[in-house]
Amino acid sequence: MSNSIVFITGANTGLGLEIVKALFRSSKAYTVLLGGRSIENAENAACQVREEYPDSSAIAVPIQVDIEDDESIRTACDYIRSHYARVDVLINNAGASFDQQWNRDRDGGPTMREVWNRSWNVNTTGTHILTYTCAPLLLQSDDPRLLFITSGTSTLAESDNVVLGVNRSPEKGWPKSSLMIPAYRSSKTGMNMMMREWTRILKEDRVKTWCVSPGVLATGLGGDQEMNKRMGAIDPIIGAEFVRDVVEGARDQDVGRVIRRGDIQPW
Ligand SMILES: NC(=O)c1ccc[n+]([C@@H]2O[C@H](COP(=O)([O-])OP(=O)(O)OC[C@H]3O[C@@H](n4cnc5c(N)ncnc54)[C@H](OP(=O)(O)O)[C@@H]3O)[C@@H](O)[C@H]2O)c1
Repeated sequence: MSNSIVFITGANTGLGLEIVKALFRSSKAYTVLLGGRSIENAENAACQVREEYPDSSAIAVPIQVDIEDDESIRTACDYIRSHYARVDVLINNAGASFDQQWNRDRDGGPTMREVWNRSWNVNTTGTHILTYTCAPLLLQSDDPRLLFITSGTSTLAESDNVVLGVNRSPEKGWPKSSLMIPAYRSSKTGMNMMMREWTRILKEDRVKTWCVSPGVLATGLGGDQEMNKRMGAIDPIIGAEFVRDVVEGARDQDVGRVIRRGDIQPW
């Protein structure tokens, strides 16, 4: 049997890289198209994984893809079409959070408009365009799977749960010392609806689609690993193995939902 072709964006670091490693640890054979904004970082990550898992039957192929750049998206998908002719699993993992930069440096950092536009551009618009461009390749698969990595902060239904720090109101008065992550979490809520749209659009093509909420992870997201840890961040390996289990069929009964370990995340 030929390897399953898995294309992962933002796979040179953090959760994405751990997903690659989780696939390398699997008994199933994968060709992992390891997407990175920087081809050098993608190549280094592919070398690292090969060295760490020399006996794996999986293969890692570095691919340059910047999801804020339509030309880069087109070139990546053209490359995949000409070399592999299909994608069995697309994992939209690339994501970014810019609110923290604004909270830290309101004068010298990005403007609020830049923070909001870029958050939506990466997490929602760019992810949608990548998915649209890759869709014909997914339709060439016998068992196509489409995953979007969303966030636990994206749920509307649980946004009044003040046990989570991200839902607590700041002190009375102005200015507020921090607005937390409104642009990031809103863009991920947008991603959740976008996933619903892809579920609808590709229903007759039998593409299995999910948003996967991997938990708060100790990665460099937002440039503040310490804040991630304060929010109770767990080892990204745990999130990565969850994603691999979804790729391998563990949550096929929950297609079209935002899934998290053990349950379904309320809308
Ligand atoms: N960390 C958490 O607690 C957490 C929780 C829930 C969901 N998530 C989601 O998990 C995913 C991975 O995040 P992470 O925690 O692993 O953070 P990370 O370590 O910062 O990794 C993010 C990845 O996305 C890439 N990326 C950013 N902008 C991109 C663009 N325009 N085009 C292509 N790639 C781009 C980054 O590339 P560079 O290396 O070039 O910067 C990096 O590879 C994101 O979607 C994030 O929202 C994270």
